[in-house]
Amino acid sequence: MQTTINNRVIEISEEELSLKLIDFLRENLNLTGTKNGCNIGACGSCTILVNENPVRSCIKKVSDIIDKKVLTIEGMENEDGTVHHLQQSFIDHGAIQCGFCTPGMVLVSHAFLLKNQNPTREEVQKAIKPNLCRCTGYQQIIDAILFAAKKY
Ligand code: FES
Ligand code: FES
Repeated sequence: MQTTINNRVIEISEEELSLKLIDFLRENLNLTGTKNGCNIGACGSCTILVNENPVRSCIKKVSDIIDKKVLTIEGMENEDGTVHHLQQSFIDHGAIQCGFCTPGMVLVSHAFLLKNQNPTREEVQKAIKPNLCRCTGYQQIIDAILFAAKKY
């Protein structure tokens, strides 16, 4: 069995199928950019993309990603190792404070912008609503996403 994570094909063993997906990413693959905020599917900090759709990895198993394409925050960087323009926009707009929500926030907004390159402020607000941020008050995050939309 296989899955593809950040464009890399990963072989999955029978024993790994029942592991919690976030634990597999963080502990087995050392992809620690995915954050565990609540562990019960309530905060969105563990969001990754599976076939370009946001998924909460704390309530999924490895068996849920067989033959799928997974994107974690580590896979967002450009080929030359620089950060994606959406991440740069988060930096430039002061949309990161403690940073704990940021990987999930970047991925949920990336999935949204792949489908909508000309969003309104209200549409962005709705798209990120399931993801909680305790620091920023959301306005800078929305500004960052709206700015980045122009380059999608
Ligand atoms: Fe998964 Fe909070 S850690 S939703
Ligand atoms: Fe701290 Fe969002 S920056 S939770």
